[in-house]
Amino acid sequence: MLNLAQIQQHDSEDMLHLLSTFSEQCRRGWEIGEALDLAGCDERIPNNIVIAGMGGSGIGGDLVKAVAGTEFPCPIIVHRGYTLPAFVSSQTLFVAVSYSGNTEETLLSVKKAFAQGAKILAVTSGGKLKGFADAHGFPCLAIPAGQPPRASLGYLLMPILSVFARLGYTLDLNLQSDLEEAVALLARMAVDFQPDAPESQPKQLAHALHGKLPVIYASQELEAVAMRWKGQINENGKSLAYYSVYPEMNHNEIEGWKHPPALTRSCHVLQLRDPAAPSQTQRRMDITAELIQSYTGGIAQVHSEGTSLLTRLLSLVAIGDWTSYYLAILYEQNPTPVRRIEELKRRLET
Ligand code: F6R
Repeated sequence: MLNLAQIQQHDSEDMLHLLSTFSEQCRRGWEIGEALDLAGCDERIPNNIVIAGMGGSGIGGDLVKAVAGTEFPCPIIVHRGYTLPAFVSSQTLFVAVSYSGNTEETLLSVKKAFAQGAKILAVTSGGKLKGFADAHGFPCLAIPAGQPPRASLGYLLMPILSVFARLGYTLDLNLQSDLEEAVALLARMAVDFQPDAPESQPKQLAHALHGKLPVIYASQELEAVAMRWKGQINENGKSLAYYSVYPEMNHNEIEGWKHPPALTRSCHVLQLRDPAAPSQTQRRMDITAELIQSYTGGIAQVHSEGTSLLTRLLSLVAIGDWTSYYLAILYEQNPTPVRRIEELKRRLET
């Protein structure tokens, strides 16, 4: 089923090209951040950073937060929705991320953040967000237009990290060299995961998930990646998917692995594994797999690759992105169009 002819038949808008060039996109995204004029930007560490965005744009914020880790000097809050917490103030750096620049929730929240006096940084390819940034003179990370937001993660994530590094927020992280490692690994993965490579991990995982409900488990430290897997399976694969995180799921969800039996046996569990998870969480993941295995339709472990946290997170993102792509082909779906999302946005406008 996963031969080149099938892929060409369903992937008529060439998602394959975007997947294959993700490593270059990450480098280009970093360079966009390096080129931003920061003159006049406040270099003091803000009280808090709020990153607002939805869907394929919002996930960039989650990954920024995951890369920043627990040593980051101020809280990072990823915000999805129309309302805005009252703590957003002149001491807040508000990063508004919308690939199209026209996402209703993000536009409303950036306007509220502006009214509450926050310092604003926009990340967009154009649209109303670009207009708002230009009108008020906010710095804007202008990224290339014309591709699906979720296939633009390198543009949505890397410029923010690059700007944070330049502003000195990322302290002892050496993101510049981490980027080199990540780009090299992602380029290698893009070769290994091509359709003509017969037994790649994404193809095997797509076969395992086909006809099942994908259940993605990860440690709390990897929640962004688990969410990305779910979103990509939803949007590319046109399939339901579910995710949850350890250790919290050990205190409730683990009990649910019994009923309804027809449903639990229709679930295929993937556990995303990475050394960022504390050793206690690693044990929990091993023991939980043993306890629930016989109730599931299968469990597999998916391991990150690389040394730096950035590389390891992006390695798992890449495996998930390619898996969702091959799942789309197995479901005979074109991975690129997201007709319901677009139809919903159209209807909301009227
Ligand atoms: C479509 C996609 C969506 C959008 C979301 C927000 O490829 O990934 O999840 O990202 O609807 O739109 P933007 O990113 O334009 O703000």
